[in-house]
Formats: sequence, C-alpha cells, structure tokens
Amino acid sequence: MARTVRCGIDFRPCAPTFTGFRTTTRFRQPFSAMPSIISISGVTKTYATGFQALKEINLDIQRGEIFALLGPNGAGKTTLISIVCGIVNRSSGTVTVDGNDITKDYRAARSLIGLVPQELTIDAFESVWATVNFSRGLFGKPANPAFVEKVLRDLSLWDKKDAKAITLSGGMKRRLMIAKALSHEPRVLFLDEPTAGVDVELRQDMWEMVRRLREDGVTIILTTHYIEEAEAMADRVGVINRGEIILVDDKAELMRKLGRKRLLVELRSPLATVPEKLSRYALELSPDGQQLTYTYDNQSDRPGVASLLRDLEAAGIHFRDMDTENSSLEEIFVNLLRQEP
Ligand SMILES: Nc1ncnc2c1ncn2[C@@H]1O[C@H](COP(=O)(O)OP(=O)(O)OP(=O)(O)O)[C@@H](O)[C@H]1O
Ligand SMILES: [Mg+2]
Repeated sequence: MARTVRCGIDFRPCAPTFTGFRTTTRFRQPFSAMPSIISISGVTKTYATGFQALKEINLDIQRGEIFALLGPNGAGKTTLISIVCGIVNRSSGTVTVDGNDITKDYRAARSLIGLVPQELTIDAFESVWATVNFSRGLFGKPANPAFVEKVLRDLSLWDKKDAKAITLSGGMKRRLMIAKALSHEPRVLFLDEPTAGVDVELRQDMWEMVRRLREDGVTIILTTHYIEEAEAMADRVGVINRGEIILVDDKAELMRKLGRKRLLVELRSPLATVPEKLSRYALELSPDGQQLTYTYDNQSDRPGVASLLRDLEAAGIHFRDMDTENSSLEEIFVNLLRQEP
C-alpha cells in the first residue's frame, strides 16, 4: 500500500512512494574542483512591503551539478531563483552566470538560463508546437524544428504537438513548461517545484530526463518539497530557511555526517521490558516485545553495535535476525529545521 509521509513543519505530504529509510551511495568527482557556473554573493531582497525575503545569500553552483534547494514554504527559494533569472530585482549583492553579471550582461546571462517557474505561465490557446517554437524565437535562436521535436519527444509530448495548451492535463502542462524552458538550449536549468502535481510514473520520467540533461552538461537547480526527489537526484543540497542558507553540502556527505543508523534486532522470544543493564543503549522495544531498535549516529558517543551484541548475549537475550537502516535525507532535513531557533 502506498503511504503518505508528512515532511514536517509546514510541508506538503511527500510522494506516496517514499519509504522513509534508504541508503544511497554514489561516487562522483568532487564539484569543488570545477569552476562555478553561478555565483551569488551577498544577495539580499526586501520586497516593497518591507518584508525581507533574503538575507545575505552566498552560494556557488558548480558546473554540471544537480543542486537541490530545499526549504519550507516562504523560505525564499522562488525569490532567489527569480533574482538569478532577472525576474525580481535584488536589493543588494551580485550574481554572475558563467561570468556574466545579471545586470550588466543581462542578455548573455539570461540566454544561458532556462526557467521552469513554479506557477504555470502558458498561453492557453497556443498549440504545444507554437508555444515551444515561439519561446525559442524570443531568445533570438534560429528555428530548429528537429531540436524542438527532440525536446517534445523526450518529454512525451510529441503526440500532443498540435493540441492547444488549454486541452492538456496538469502534468502535461508542466512538461510543456519544461519544453519551453529548454527551447533555447540553456546551459543552466532552474526547476522550481517541477513535479508538483505530477504522477509517480511521470515524476520518474522527469528524473530520468533531468539526469540525461546533466549528462549533456546542463547544470540543474531544482526546488522541491518532495525530499526523496532531492535524495534521488541531487549531487549537492542547500537548505534555506527564513531567507538564510543554513546549510550547503554534498548530499552523500550530508547523509554520512548527519544521518543516523538503526539496528533492528528480532528476538527469539518476546521481552516484557528492556533489562536495566542495557539502559545505556536507549533501546526501543516494539509493542509485541519481539524487536529491539538501537539508534546510533556517526557523531554520537553511544557504544557500538559489537558491544550491544555482547551485552545482549550476557543478558541471555537471543536474537533470530538483525538488519540495519540508514536515515533518509528527509529525517535529516526535518531535524535541521527543528534545531533552528
Ligand atoms: N511580491 C512580493 N511582495 C511581498 N512579499 C513577497 C513577494 N513575493 C514573495 N514574498 C514573500 O517572500 C517570502 C519568500 O517567498 P518565496 O516565494 O520566495 O518562498 P518559497 O521558498 O519559494 O516558498 P514556496 O515553497 O511556498 O514556494 C514569503 O514570505 C513571501 O510571502
Ligand atoms: Mg516557491
């Protein structure tokens, strides 16, 4: 049965496929060795209402990476993306895209960027084909029907090429937004909640498409409330909260540093209570008394698994089986935000 998991605080429910605990190991070249493609330095934003949405943002996006920007509703994700894309004016600070200042070299900077905004912005009565070709033309790119066809095929929109946008389903409209954003062959793609309202199968297709784009050398910055999306896709993760970046780290490193491990011990015979002499392990006993859970992390000074197993033996507690689990990015993320004042 699919399960809905809440991400905590003011987050929407996660995708129903999420399983909570998962181990991810993938080796990649360290991005720090590559020059950054986007450089955000000292950026602040105070809206006309007087609300300060961004406070001193410093962030470098490395060439060719998939960077996930996570944060609760209202954290400032869309504001930051909109500033880099030149849609919202910053109050202070500088931003460069491949060395082009977004104010002084606006055209050069903008032409390198594709943006899939959070809100759908398509002409309802235009066909899919015209929408994407028009968008390409806006960037001054010569017509290239073969390229546009490839984009539409990659996004499974080819059979809808003559359909008016208004006749598309919500998920198709979102894919059309992506096709539009890719129409001028950008080197950097911003996806502001690309999979909101998209079904599970289509979400997997989108992840696949994003990975292919990355293989073609496109840098991807995505925001998402589906934490497992960041876990599955991102090379690095940034967390923004109340207009401040509170953490940027390599995803695997983040999970290694902040992740917890659990050892699940299935007992031969049920226990009524955990013996006093095992109290230092803070074991959790399942309601049926059949399973002990030991939670430990890489930084804690809790004793190791080997000593637990010795002490179980000494206490005459025999087990049938055991298993370990790593905590998910979601757990790490929720804990991080809880620690915020
Ligand atoms: N035009 C505006 N005028 C005044 N305040 C604004 C404006 N646009 C955004 N804000 C405020 O700035 C803050 C950050 O908004 P932003 O849209 O960047 O958040 P977000 O992280 O993208 O949130 P979500 O996850 O809900 O998309 C919010 O408090 C929002 O109300
Ligand atoms: Mg937003």
